[in-house]
Amino acid sequence: MECSGKVTPQLMMAVGTAVIGSLQFGYNTGVINAPQSIIESFYNETWSGRFAEPISQSTLTALWSLSVAIFSVGGMFGSFSVGILANRFGRRNSMLMANVLAFVAAAFMGFSKLAASFEMLIIGRFVVGLYSGLSTGFVPMYVEEISPTSVRGALGTLHQLGVVLGILVAQIFGIESIMGNASLWPLLLGFTLLPAVLQCVLLPLCPESPRYLLINCNEESKARGILIKLRGTDDVSEDMQEMKEESQQMMREKKVTVPELFRSPVYRQPILVAIMLQLSQQLSGINAVFYYSTGIFERSGVSQPVYATIGAGVVNTAFTVVSLFVVERVGRRPLHLTGLMGMAVSSVFLTVAMALLDHFSWMSYVSMAAIFSYVAFFEIGPGPIPWFIVAELFSQGPRPAAIAVAGFCNWSANFLVGMCFQYVEQICGPYVFIIFAVLLLGFFVFTYFKVPETNGRTFDEIAAEFRQSAGQGADKYSSPEEFNTLRGDDPDL
Ligand SMILES: *[C@@H]1O[C@H](CO)[C@@H](O)[C@H](O)[C@H]1NC(C)=O
Repeated sequence: MECSGKVTPQLMMAVGTAVIGSLQFGYNTGVINAPQSIIESFYNETWSGRFAEPISQSTLTALWSLSVAIFSVGGMFGSFSVGILANRFGRRNSMLMANVLAFVAAAFMGFSKLAASFEMLIIGRFVVGLYSGLSTGFVPMYVEEISPTSVRGALGTLHQLGVVLGILVAQIFGIESIMGNASLWPLLLGFTLLPAVLQCVLLPLCPESPRYLLINCNEESKARGILIKLRGTDDVSEDMQEMKEESQQMMREKKVTVPELFRSPVYRQPILVAIMLQLSQQLSGINAVFYYSTGIFERSGVSQPVYATIGAGVVNTAFTVVSLFVVERVGRRPLHLTGLMGMAVSSVFLTVAMALLDHFSWMSYVSMAAIFSYVAFFEIGPGPIPWFIVAELFSQGPRPAAIAVAGFCNWSANFLVGMCFQYVEQICGPYVFIIFAVLLLGFFVFTYFKVPETNGRTFDEIAAEFRQSAGQGADKYSSPEEFNTLRGDDPDL
């Protein structure tokens, strides 16, 4: 019994191999930041070579924004396919197969310069987005399913850590003397090949998820065999029992479809909250920083913009670690509210600093500090909290549909920011972050009035709070029992 929480070498190996997928997502989020101006020159040259005239500023902005943002379109399609693939081919094999996409993407991006084709780079960004959308679904699922209950939360956070480390590595590799220069940038983008190869070598040595084998394939003895290896003990009856109970509960709960989620008055409030929380994460403008911070720092008068970008990556990583320790102990609501308000205040400081740059050159330091604190507050609240709350608002029946809707909103808003930021910045100049400040304050107000605390509470308690705040909405279902049935919760549990 005391062995059930042991982290065996087999478990570490499997988790470590899976988390390569998280690194890849982070890497490709951060990789186009530092070399923007260098790759833009390549676009310009390629354009001149083809059409015998330099590219116009508006075409260049359009092409670059598309190159950045199409990643999220891929991500959206990828995240939609997670459930189907993971249930048909298994978790491990799905992760293995997804690497084909990483190879294809690395080839398209790595050879785009040789082929003098920015189209190839854009296609490569789309494909690596597909891969990332799949990864962000597969990795947490696999890690959660192979980990013992006692360390599940801790190991689950490695996904988040992998993502921010990936961003940081990409920013460091983007330094001019490493790969962020006119001759090596194809290597910088194509680098995504290496982790993919590594994962392809290691994954066949990792086990399939025992939960998948037991619940989806009904292969009890195989599942038991894998658990024995993963736990390093012969007594895995507790784990088996837990999975069987979960499977029984899944069968009792009716699966809720996405349209039902919106039609049923019971889910309407929670799904609205889930959607708004995802929007608060992306429309906070965080990806304007991860995609474009080098340019932002440059316009803020920072003398070494690439190093400031790396600084933001370090702050990002550090505060992710901080939040990992805090998030399980403190309520979701206060953290999210703190994060949103901190980001809003940082945005205001950034705006003031950028507006006054012509009068005081030291304002560049204020800009830098403002962006660092903006990133730090993101990782305290809007970074991790929305995913926690979505999972905690919905019981097993509606959860997959709710997470699909949340993922769709998240990637859509990510695309919107990636695509539009440069245009809005051209119009608003130094005042662009005021828009994010206003949005952040709006989300703060929404969270304050509409988002219930979910930490350590049962679905029934959360549901009761929704009923109260909805007021007359309570008439729509006559009794708590009916409410529970609709929610898919088993009242006996
Ligand atoms: C494209 O390159 C030409 C020639 O080097 C340069 O004059 C022009 O400013 C560049 N265009 C843009 C939009 O950067």
